Amino acid sequence: MIARNLIPLAILAAMVTMNCSSNKEAGPGPGTTSRVFGKTPAGETVDLYTLRNAKGAEADVSTYGGVLVSLKVPDRAGVAGDIVLGFDDLEGYLKPEPYFGALIGRYGNRIAHGKFTLDGVKYTLARNDGENSLHGGNRGFDKVLWKAKAGSGASVELTYLSKDGEEGYPGNLSITVVYTLTDDNELKIDYTATTDKDTVLNLTNHSYFNLAGQGEGDILAHQVTINADRFTPVDKGLIPTGELRSVEGTPFDFRQPHAIGERINAPDEQLKFAKGYDQNFVLNRSGDGLVLAARVTEAKSGRVMEVLTTQPGLQFYTGNFLDGTIHGKGGRAYGPRSAFCMETQHFPDSPNHPDFPTVVLKPGGQYRETTTYRFSTESAGSPAK
Ligand code: BGC
Repeated sequence: MIARNLIPLAILAAMVTMNCSSNKEAGPGPGTTSRVFGKTPAGETVDLYTLRNAKGAEADVSTYGGVLVSLKVPDRAGVAGDIVLGFDDLEGYLKPEPYFGALIGRYGNRIAHGKFTLDGVKYTLARNDGENSLHGGNRGFDKVLWKAKAGSGASVELTYLSKDGEEGYPGNLSITVVYTLTDDNELKIDYTATTDKDTVLNLTNHSYFNLAGQGEGDILAHQVTINADRFTPVDKGLIPTGELRSVEGTPFDFRQPHAIGERINAPDEQLKFAKGYDQNFVLNRSGDGLVLAARVTEAKSGRVMEVLTTQPGLQFYTGNFLDGTIHGKGGRAYGPRSAFCMETQHFPDSPNHPDFPTVVLKPGGQYRETTTYRFSTESAGSPAK
């Protein structure tokens, strides 16, 4: 072993620089650093990875639940602000909370009665949302510890092995999720997975956005455009009926920009069932690849968020079940509609709807999806577009 004091200073300096993208002690330059976020009740250490790009944007990702804990992007004055709801400490995420920023799996959104049949075999899942199974069951991917590795630049790779039978789902499922913060102020999430048995899979991220800043009131004045001619209407339990309904003439027509609050209280059965927006939109696309799913603008900050995805659907949820009892980062109370979610996904309850795009993953196949949240700003008085 070479004694530390024998290594020439120049070589030491070079080693420190080379290690910069994963150095736990590194200062706030572009790249990736990590620190301990806390411990789970079982005593496992949870890390928090910070991704920084060259423009001063920052994303914090926790190995617990793969949660996007904070996302700081500039407003029109260039001041970075945190635009996702969540908690300052790990403790907040260990208590019951509505999936703030989490990775969701195996199945994003609901499976009716927690039941599906695959290859003639009946599977039963936990009913953790009334009669239905929601977001992977009692201990979905939002509540497991992911292994993490800093990638090159501002990125972190998370991996998790979900065992055959976990939460009632078949097959050993090996999942990799990579969060990357690009120098174009994009947060890119790449999801890949393989299985050793036929299974169903629907991964997403459950970030709650408020482009004015987390805890800065409601999102009703945000202007939203969604690239969808159709949506999947639901029953009272928020399970799709199977219909692909045209948005034409409904409060679900976001093909031109509309303020979220403009029609949210309209006398519409779908809005009543969900207490606001909480439906899956069928994205317009011709072929595979990334499409622009949605665009959201917030006038005061000037922030613009565009959502691009390879997925067929987008769950637009307006935080209808937030009621002000949860106090998040900086002690802010998160009231009704204080954030919106844009969960890119396959359609809810697809395992029970053979007409919906398939969510079946087979051995030898690879699940591969990408979603990019792209941030920019527009000047005051820009017409909504
Ligand atoms: C669902 C909502 C649910 C929320 C939090 C969304 O994906 O569509 O119905 O309340 O997640 O669990």
